[in-house]
Amino acid sequence: VPVLVLNGPNLNLLGLREPGIYGKETLAAIEELCRETARAHGLTADCRQSNHEGVLIDAVHEARTAHRAIVINPAGYSHTSVALRDALAAVELPVVEVHLSNIHKREPFRHHSYVSAVADTVICGAGSHGYALALAHAATLVRGR
Ligand code: DQA
Repeated sequence: VPVLVLNGPNLNLLGLREPGIYGKETLAAIEELCRETARAHGLTADCRQSNHEGVLIDAVHEARTAHRAIVINPAGYSHTSVALRDALAAVELPVVEVHLSNIHKREPFRHHSYVSAVADTVICGAGSHGYALALAHAATLVRGR
């Protein structure tokens, strides 16, 4: 059962970028964790990352026919992108939103995510473990459909 794991802008710099907030793990390590967790739950994780809003939107559109659920960390676009939110609403797949940090503990501009209103589930503040939780839950959502 294929699941799209989509990471947004600047997450390619994980490990180097503000490690006190986002942790020392690289994106490659997190993607490996996603693939392992997916496998353990009968899923396959198809991991992508882009710094470009339109590329993320295209990936969401492709998921409509290629995947059964979406796990997404929209990163900075969480707080700005109506277009990404609309794409997620359009594809009608189960959506799990993940943030490494607890966005509610941080600057006020991070407290609102446009994506949350179209996500089935939101996980934040669990660090990289949040991705493992997200994949496990995506399996439950897929089975519930
Ligand atoms: C983030 C939180 C966002 O506010 C920020 O812009 C990111 C990462 C997180 O995973 O904690 O880039 O989505």
